[in-house]
Amino acid sequence: MNTPKRLGILTSGGDCPGLNAVIRAVVSHATLTYNWEVFGIPYATQGLRERQIIPLRMHSFDLRGIDPLVSMGGTILGTVNGGNTLAQAEDIIAGYRALNLDALIAIGGDGSLRILSELAMRGNWQFIGIPKTIDNDVAVTERSVGFDTAVNTITDALNRLTFTAASHDRVMVVEVMGRDAGHLALHAGIAGGADVILLPEIPYSVQEICEHLAELRDRWQRRFAIVVVAEGIHPPAESPCREKPACGMGQFIASQIGECSPYPVDVRVSVLGHIQRGGIPTALDRLIAAAFGKTAVDLVAAGKSNQIVTWQCGEVVAVPIEQVCEQSPHGVEPDSPLVQTARALGIYVGKK
Ligand code: F6P
Repeated sequence: MNTPKRLGILTSGGDCPGLNAVIRAVVSHATLTYNWEVFGIPYATQGLRERQIIPLRMHSFDLRGIDPLVSMGGTILGTVNGGNTLAQAEDIIAGYRALNLDALIAIGGDGSLRILSELAMRGNWQFIGIPKTIDNDVAVTERSVGFDTAVNTITDALNRLTFTAASHDRVMVVEVMGRDAGHLALHAGIAGGADVILLPEIPYSVQEICEHLAELRDRWQRRFAIVVVAEGIHPPAESPCREKPACGMGQFIASQIGECSPYPVDVRVSVLGHIQRGGIPTALDRLIAAAFGKTAVDLVAAGKSNQIVTWQCGEVVAVPIEQVCEQSPHGVEPDSPLVQTARALGIYVGKK
């Protein structure tokens, strides 16, 4: 009988809901279908460097036979974000070799996958990537693990803020994550009934925002408003200064609206922060996690390497990792159907 394959799995970059559901899918399929051994690497490349390994078994996290991994946020393996990983490439590659792994599946955003695929080339690893990020800015894939849950979390926050804003006739500015891309702001803003959505990809004018809010009030007697601001937006078109203020873009937009509005406005700011990264994964994120995990294991079994699984039209499609990395981070197309939908619904989404 052949010795079973030793498959490593790690999570890298910022956490998000659904990572544990991917780990569960990989362990289940690798064990049940292929009879392989699966090992978790704690804290991504740090675990490789330190030669650390955690055997993962089906239902190893049992509580009366319940497997909590499908519904648990965060990552049981721990993760690291940032640092100059490639400077430690030799140690990491030596660690991988010492752990005697036959293949590695990594769940990461575009930055992590780029670095890991470089390490995989140098170390001659069999390597498969699975995209995750609440920002949804990994190119080629329509969805990354974690995005749907974050959209739902923000939508829920917007629902809550709407009622308090309406009760006090306030303008509620809500800053959401999205360092380079506005997918979160756009999806949740539409779903949560926002009046203004500001994205890093589309220039905007504070003057136009104030005119829009005045129109809501004068024409539709709407005395409150919800303004969704992606954290990565740039200063407004009319500002001579291109530097981002230290206070954060949500706070900045709130003060600009206060100064520019033709009416006295009562503005409040909510920065949702890391609440967006927590929580129980939605059914869609669990489904994507299961499909990505299953396909990643099949790709290893088929001897493939340096591929990433992507979600295209409801199906999982494997593509070369360089193709994805070259086009990432992938932002909102300013003329996309979703931007047009927002505009059709009377939402200000920046300059046309
Ligand atoms: O990449 C996802 C993201 O959530 C960004 O939108 C945000 O800027 C960043 O992570 C924050 O990450 P951390 O605080 O963990 O470094």
